[in-house]
Amino acid sequence: MPWSKRLLADLRSDHAGETGAVWIYKGAAAAQRLRGHSAEAREFVGQHLESEQQHLDFFDDLLEAQHTTKLLPLWRACGFVLGFAPAMVGEAALFATVEAVETFVEEHYDDQLAYLRSNGEMRSGGHAERHAEGSDGGVAELVRVIAACRDDEVSHKNDAASRGSPREAQPVFVAAAVRAWARVIDAGSRLAVVASRAV
Ligand SMILES: [Fe+2]
Ligand SMILES: [Fe+2]
Repeated sequence: MPWSKRLLADLRSDHAGETGAVWIYKGAAAAQRLRGHSAEAREFVGQHLESEQQHLDFFDDLLEAQHTTKLLPLWRACGFVLGFAPAMVGEAALFATVEAVETFVEEHYDDQLAYLRSNGEMRSGGHAERHAEGSDGGVAELVRVIAACRDDEVSHKNDAASRGSPREAQPVFVAAAVRAWARVIDAGSRLAVVASRAV
């Protein structure tokens, strides 16, 4: 594929992330069947799963199989556990998890959009020009779709935040646990991006 190494690594990390996202909601749905969440929480998972599947389909179509990360089985397993475990704890834990994950993803896509919009890809050796018929090598279309994904992730984050218990209403130890859990998710996500870019 005639894209720069940098852009390919970005897209590979997006594909990995969307794979993980789909499996987070598959894990959450499995736990909901065992644990019996409210209709609202089940609807939340169903809607988010559908949206993440659309994101994954886009990156699936974009990347040839040999350009996806070799770690996909690992991200499917991690995603499943990351959705299943909090959903078994309860709805509030699931919403806090989704909020933390989507906070990371928003930043991830924002960084990429800033790079693409600054035309870094165009200056990286001119490969992009040959990729598609458009004079910008398809970069404008890529920016449009990634920006749409990013907007979806922000609405997922806001949806989770609005359903979770308000910060002020949480006992101090719960708020501390939620903050610690969010830091674990952030660190794990960063590691997953680095690994997926590399292999
Ligand atoms: Fe997504
Ligand atoms: Fe999302």
